Amino acid sequence: MQVKYSYLDQQFAEVETYFDDLRKLVSSGEFTLGPFVEVFEKKFAAYIGIKHAIGTNTGTGALILSLKAVGVGQGSEVITVANTFIATVGAIIAAGARPVFVDCDERYQIDVNKIEAAISPRTAAILPVHWAGCPPEMDEIIEIADRHGIPVVEDACPAVGAKINGRFAGTFGKVNAFSMHPLKPLNVWGDGGIIVTDDDKAAEFLRLYRNHGLLDRDHVEIWGVNDRLQPFQAVVGSRVLDTVEGLVEARIRNARLLDAGLKGLESSIRPPHRPAGYREVYQLYLVTASRRDELVKFLVGRGVEAKVHYPIPIHLQNAARNLGYKRGDFPVCERQAQEVVTLPAHQHITEEQVDYTVSIIREFYR
Ligand SMILES: Cc1ncc(COP(=O)(O)O)c(C=O)c1O
Repeated sequence: MQVKYSYLDQQFAEVETYFDDLRKLVSSGEFTLGPFVEVFEKKFAAYIGIKHAIGTNTGTGALILSLKAVGVGQGSEVITVANTFIATVGAIIAAGARPVFVDCDERYQIDVNKIEAAISPRTAAILPVHWAGCPPEMDEIIEIADRHGIPVVEDACPAVGAKINGRFAGTFGKVNAFSMHPLKPLNVWGDGGIIVTDDDKAAEFLRLYRNHGLLDRDHVEIWGVNDRLQPFQAVVGSRVLDTVEGLVEARIRNARLLDAGLKGLESSIRPPHRPAGYREVYQLYLVTASRRDELVKFLVGRGVEAKVHYPIPIHLQNAARNLGYKRGDFPVCERQAQEVVTLPAHQHITEEQVDYTVSIIREFYR
């Protein structure tokens, strides 16, 4: 049996409805921002319950612009984690700031007990990541940040649909970023990003900044860039958004089946603690496994496309060599980099495929 990691051919098999929407776009000629982007932005803002959504070209762009919107710039520091996709940290560097890492907890999320020690007079933002589509302890993070008067920017890139006690990821920080990269819960046909905020001033800045600072075609209010969401991606995103709750529920069902199937194997492989009230969207279904590399090889050899996200923490990447970190600085993160494995649990995985995955894991540890 094959258990594929990617599902995009299945997700977009019924392509005609998308083409119907795209025909309307093409006949309108609205190819630069315009009504199709606005409709999508309003729809997304209403979905998560926030005032403003601003579409960008990528999640990375959404992060860079969000950081700028809260005042991050040259000479400032931004607190984040080293177990994330490189874009989180790349965005801090691109905004002109220095990343300051803190270790993660056993849920693979920022360890809230270690944030305060990382705060300095130069800290311009805290950038917690909803790593793997799982919310970090946002209430505690906001409480710490408020006490120090520091804005929070959520890297909610992998976490459209995630919630804490009914409140959506992306509604805790001041300005927050989502990705619509193909392997995210809300995905488009290539790249796309969304910034969300309740802050009118930040929204005004972001709408200008992502479009060259143009007030209108003849008036430039501020220096900006071109980081606009493409209208055809807004059209695709709008349609996927109609189905995203169903997609997320299917992922949750598969994650629960995997959690249940792995019961009894805790000495070899175990899912993280899943606190009550936290809705994870399982952009990645992560577990910690002993003999991880052998296990991944075994699974792949039997048709289960397991992956590792990621084997090298960011503070140990060559690109980070000038940041002054070394092996041993973040022991939990470094251990997890050796142990973590991603199992396919997306919305197109069937119960039979989950059972098969579990049976191969059981065979490996027997
Ligand atoms: C945690 C995290 N941050 C940022 C990004 C960047 O998003 P994008 O690929 O849309 O630029 C991603 C995903 O790719 C991500 O997983």
